[in-house]
Amino acid sequence: MAVTVRPLKGERAEKFLSLHQRGNEPQGLFGPTGCVLPLRFTDSAQQIKEFEVREDDVWIITPPQSGTTWTQEMVWLLVNDLNYDKSKETSLFKRCPFLEFSRFLPEAIVKNLEMDTLEFAANDTSPRCIKSHLHKQLLPEQLWTKKPKIVFVAREPKDVAVSSFHQYELVRGYKGDREFYFQCFYEDMVQFTPLWEHVLEFWKMKDDPKILFNTYEEMKQDLPAVIRRTAKFLGKILSEEQVTRLAEHLDIKRMKENPSTNCVDLLRKARISDEQPFIRKGVVGEGRRLMSPEMAARFDARTRRVFQETGDI
Ligand code: A3P
Repeated sequence: MAVTVRPLKGERAEKFLSLHQRGNEPQGLFGPTGCVLPLRFTDSAQQIKEFEVREDDVWIITPPQSGTTWTQEMVWLLVNDLNYDKSKETSLFKRCPFLEFSRFLPEAIVKNLEMDTLEFAANDTSPRCIKSHLHKQLLPEQLWTKKPKIVFVAREPKDVAVSSFHQYELVRGYKGDREFYFQCFYEDMVQFTPLWEHVLEFWKMKDDPKILFNTYEEMKQDLPAVIRRTAKFLGKILSEEQVTRLAEHLDIKRMKENPSTNCVDLLRKARISDEQPFIRKGVVGEGRRLMSPEMAARFDARTRRVFQETGDI
């Protein structure tokens, strides 16, 4: 079925885009949830729906800024029997390709990248680990027939919005103020929003044995427990020593120092930044500190409203 798309309109959306130094282009609302992506993504959307999935793939599907990179490194190492040598040699971007990356990023960045990530993922050797931020209805249709394993990660929405603000500054040269950014995030103008509906779709599928639903907060609180749970989901048996070593490897300080996980080559190649690290603070609760109380209340109310329907909160 063709993917539906409507243009994202309105004064606030125009003002938001005018504050971008890169990627100031018309945006669209894709699929039934209205996932925000550039209008030029339309052709790619159809190609992605038809993307060939393999049964032994492992997909890491997340909203941006929710702990994707952290999860990618954990999952790739589990799938590849803790091959730390290869994980250091080859950048995470190549070990676990980001399916739609070269199709939605500002063209000025994509042209420096010299790589079509959709093709790269299609030609990767099995077992593949593939990352995507797309909403359920925009993902390849074969995900629901071939049923590879999917690891989903969610994070508290206010913290996602703060992390996303910094990412927009880094990648898109966003020049507006923070509170205005939060407002635009809340009103679903930031790429890959609406966050709440994205998470809800996967929350509803959390009991599917082929889907593992992790959270950023659980990873922060007890990473070894999340490693054990994810290893079990992937059919891997780990000794306690191996769990401890993996947790150490995944520590934010280590991942920041590791060029393979901190996307150093990618940021340089795309000419985004030579210095600013991709991995930032990695803390819980920054959203509550940085948002105005009114904005934080609005975010919390939406979280309650969206998830109350599930009966889980
Ligand atoms: P902050 O911007 O709040 O620091 P994603 O990979 O989905 O884009 O998520 C990025 C967020 O995950 C960033 O959050 C980043 O710092 C954090 N992160 C990356 N690696 C991490 C790690 N090993 N431990 C904790 N947080 C990590």
